[in-house]
Amino acid sequence: MAEIEIDPLEPGPLTPVEAAALEALYASAFPEEDLFPLVRRLHAEVPGLVSLRAMAGETLAGHVIFTPCTIEDLPADHRPNPKTDADAPAQATSAALLGPLCVAPEHQRQGIGSALIRAGHEKLRSLEVAHVLVLGDPAYYSRHGFAAGADVEPPSPLPEHWRQAWQWLTLDPSLPAPHGSLTVPETWRDPALWTE
Ligand SMILES: CC(C)(COP(=O)(O)OP(=O)(O)OC[C@H]1O[C@@H](n2cnc3c(N)ncnc32)[C@H](O)[C@@H]1OP(=O)(O)O)[C@@H](O)C(=O)NCCC(=O)NCCS
Repeated sequence: MAEIEIDPLEPGPLTPVEAAALEALYASAFPEEDLFPLVRRLHAEVPGLVSLRAMAGETLAGHVIFTPCTIEDLPADHRPNPKTDADAPAQATSAALLGPLCVAPEHQRQGIGSALIRAGHEKLRSLEVAHVLVLGDPAYYSRHGFAAGADVEPPSPLPEHWRQAWQWLTLDPSLPAPHGSLTVPETWRDPALWTE
């Protein structure tokens, strides 16, 4: 197996070479879903995007995006203890949304997905991002410390059977669990991205 190297892709519009490699990668990893347009838009539209690729020699073997977001305090009347919390100042906490993540089928089960997640978390810690949210398979993401039951409203209502797929992880264990609603850049506000 070629050695895997993880390096960042600069945010901003993809070059034609980057776009062609990513389009082929996403088509092979997600044969029934076309996620490449989302990847292209996130690159073009979101400042501060954390986009990492895994290279096996000259081949693009995997890719992940972390989108910078904030967790906004819930309005006072939606807080868990409206009486005691009502006077607390509204706060926004830095967070990131993980996804999409993919590894080419011929490179799966070699630790590349895990390495991309770890590298992303390391980068986010350096940026002092507090929490990571993901909508994905709990069987996979629980292996990386994510847990269901986040007290963070997703940007769009989720189908009931996806509630367990909405997961969170705190990068600094000294921080309390997040609560509020996740505010995402416009690219992620399309409700179609949050339902089947
Ligand atoms: C999910 C994915 C990113 C994992 O990448 P990877 O490089 O194979 O992951 P790793 O090598 O770090 O981990 C592999 C382990 O995770 C397990 N795994 C992979 N997908 C899983 C899933 N959906 N549920 C549970 N376990 C899963 C593998 O069985 C393997 O387990 P093992 O080590 O006990 O054999 C990759 O399989 C993929 O791109 N799949 C298609 C696209 C996708 O589903 N993306 C995730 C979006 S939520």
